[in-house]
Order: sequence, then structure tokens, then C-alpha cells
Amino acid sequence: MLKTNLKKENNHFDFRNGILHVEELSVVDLAKATKTPFYVYSAGALEDSYNALSSSLKGLNHSIYYSVKSNSNLAVLRVLTLLGSGMDVVSGGEYLRARKVGVAGEKIVFSGVGKTSEEMVLALTQGIRQFNVESVPEILQLNSIAARLGKIAPVSIRVNPDVNARTHEKIMTGKSENKFGIPITQAEEAYKMAGDLSNISIVGIDVHIGSQITDLTPFKKAFQKIRELVGLLRNLGHRIRRVDIGGGLGISYLKNRKNPISPNDFSNMLASIFGGMDLEIQIEPGRYISGNSGLLITSVIYMKEGTDHNFLIIDAGMNDLMRPALYDASHEFIPVLSSSESEFGMEVNVVGPICESSDTFSRKTVLPKLLAGDLLAIYSAGAYGAVMASEYNTRPLIPELLVKGNRSSIIRARPNIFETINRDQIPYWLR
Ligand code: LLP
Repeated sequence: MLKTNLKKENNHFDFRNGILHVEELSVVDLAKATKTPFYVYSAGALEDSYNALSSSLKGLNHSIYYSVKSNSNLAVLRVLTLLGSGMDVVSGGEYLRARKVGVAGEKIVFSGVGKTSEEMVLALTQGIRQFNVESVPEILQLNSIAARLGKIAPVSIRVNPDVNARTHEKIMTGKSENKFGIPITQAEEAYKMAGDLSNISIVGIDVHIGSQITDLTPFKKAFQKIRELVGLLRNLGHRIRRVDIGGGLGISYLKNRKNPISPNDFSNMLASIFGGMDLEIQIEPGRYISGNSGLLITSVIYMKEGTDHNFLIIDAGMNDLMRPALYDASHEFIPVLSSSESEFGMEVNVVGPICESSDTFSRKTVLPKLLAGDLLAIYSAGAYGAVMASEYNTRPLIPELLVKGNRSSIIRARPNIFETINRDQIPYWLR
């Protein structure tokens, strides 16, 4: 389980002389320079996953909008911008991040169910490729703001196709009971309404049925419904030039397994559904690009023997990586030093220091005997890791590092604990 069978799909996290490396740098050396816990990303892995997707789509008229929410560190965005990626954003903050790394407004897609007036003004003023709008009130609001600014807002309507994405319930978005999109049954009416507005220009249609989707069937079902709708809308005179198919491509959370859907199969499926329709295909991948491009490096604090289980207490907590607590997600743990003792594994529950039982990363995991101070890598932590972290239990946000070849840089520093504490203020009347 330990050092053998490293996933060859991604060779940026390999063992060399028994030590886990990120590209050319030893994790032991990284941890000497930066106190654990910290996130570390591989620029090469980000580039490889972007390029794999982009080259599999090359037979289609397509464009990629990286989903900023999955990992929004400016350095990560910069790596992808240099490859030509556009950005999918869901807030004014993400929009400003994309702009800051040099993305033109025309390469930014603005998604999200609750865009505020301020966010609409920002994007209309600085430039936007399209707004993916999700409700009639939102379309009306966008129209009036665009009119006030003397602008025309490019719009795709996000349609909810009522398809079960067969993923974790909390990250499913395309069922009728979910808050997202306009029900497909009401799409015709919504397009008619939007088409009559003076400051809205319809450019396409948008769909996103969920995240960490591991088989093609739900995608197929949703996209077939969208294809039919495109035909219908075009017959009614709407100009549907683009279809934004959202994100959702799942990844493997086991380091020696391939991703569940190959980008080539995905592209072939897209070609079979949308081929010959004179449509530009837009895609908004997040996890597929960032997920297996990052590790969370942590140290053992204590090994505690319990009556039912042994607990390996590590210095990363649910505040640093929420996915196990929130979605019962399992991330693989690998000791940074592979040792010959590894065969004599023991079963442990890996837990963090937070005062909640949900602060459990894994149960009944077999790991070699580890001592206080030993380093562990938590795999597949590049997406929805740092971005979802909090300071619960007054633990400052942990640093992020980026490695490229033999270079590493801190791309977000650990704040001083007093910066964290001193953000609060005691009112004068309590002093
Ligand atoms: N486009 C839209 C409109 C989205 O809402 C999302 C993700 C994406 C694209 C990118 O999806 P991806 O390719 O990464 O699956 N925190 C959860 C995932 C939430 C996904 C939210 N929306 C997790 O840790 O699993």
C-alpha cells in the first residue's frame, strides 16, 4: 500500500530514496522550512491535468473556464492563466482574483445563484464573457443594472435538467429539488422573457448537475436534454451559440487508481451529443484540474491508545480540510518516509486536534507505526481544501506552497496568531 504502485497518471508526487517528493523537492525538506500543517501544490500536476483535458477536447470547438472555487490561490490561477485557461467565478472576490492574475473580463464566466447588484456592476464595468443566470428575478435585475450602465449583458440561462448526478447528496445540483437553475420545464418561457429585454443578449445555455461525478451516464442524460432544448430554442428564434456544460468531472481519491472518467471518453460523449450542432462547448472544471495537484502535509502529534480504537492525532484538523467531516470524504494518507517497518502496520483512526468527533479524517486505516513528529501526506487535497478552511478553534489558516521543478515558494503565508486574534475588537463600552 505504501511505496509501491504509485499512480503513474501523476508522477509529480513520487518517492525517491524512500522520501516523498513534490516534483524535485523532498517533503522532509519542505517541512523543515515550513511548519506543518501546510498545503503544497505541484505546478506540473496542474499543467498536466489542464493539458490532458484540453487536448482530449481538441476535436471540439471548446473553451475551458477553470472553476476558481476549487482552489483560488493567485499562484494556482496564474499557472492556469499562463496555459490560456479562462475562469469560472461565483463572487466578486473570485472575479477580482481572476482579473489580478491577468485574465481579461472576456475570459471570465460569472456563475452562482445569488449574484448581488454590486457584483453585476463590477463584471459589467470591467468586462465579462457571460453571466450564467439562474432565476427570473436575477435576469430582471441584470437587465436593469445593464440599462443603467448603458451596457448589454451577455447571458446564458442555467437550466436545471432534473437529473440525478449520482454523487454525494450535498454536491448534487441538477435535481428539481435543488436550488440551482431554472427548471427545464420553464426554460422556454424564461428565454422568451429574457429575449424581450433591451439590455440582455442571449448567448447560450448552461447546465451543471453536480460535482465528483464518477460515471458518464448522468452527464449523458443531462446533455441529451440540453441538446433537445437547444433545438427547440433555436426554432423559436433564440441565438444559442454556446453550451456551458459546467464542471463535475470526478477524480480518484486513491493514488494508485486512475480517474473514474477518462477525458477522452468524456470528449467522445460530448462529440456524440453536440457534434454537428454548430455550438461552442464551454467547460468549467475545478476538481479535475486542482484535486490531485495538491497534498496536505501534517505531522503526528500523539498516538493514543483507546479501548475500541487507536487514535493517530495529527496537527491538521477539520478546519484545515473540511471534506471528511462535511461529505464523509476519504482522502488517502501516506507516510512521507517509507520504511521497512511498513509491513507491520497498525489500524488507527486518524483524527485532528479539534474538539469535535467529526474531526475524523479516516477510520480503521492501516498505517505503519508512527511516532510524534512523523510526517504524513494527505492526498488529493488540492481542490476544496484550503479554500474551505476556517479558523475554528482559533487556528490560523495554514500556509500554501507551490513547487515547480526544484523551486518552491510560499504562496500564502501563515498569519501570525496575533493577526488572527487582533481582528476582533472589544467595544469601548466593555473596556
Ligand atoms: N461550475 C459550477 C457552476 C459549480 O457550482 C461547480 C462546483 C463547478 C463548476 C466545478 O465543479 P468541479 O469540476 O470541481 O466538480 N466542496 C465540494 C464540491 C462543491 C462543488 C461546488 N460547485 C467538495 O469538496 O466535494
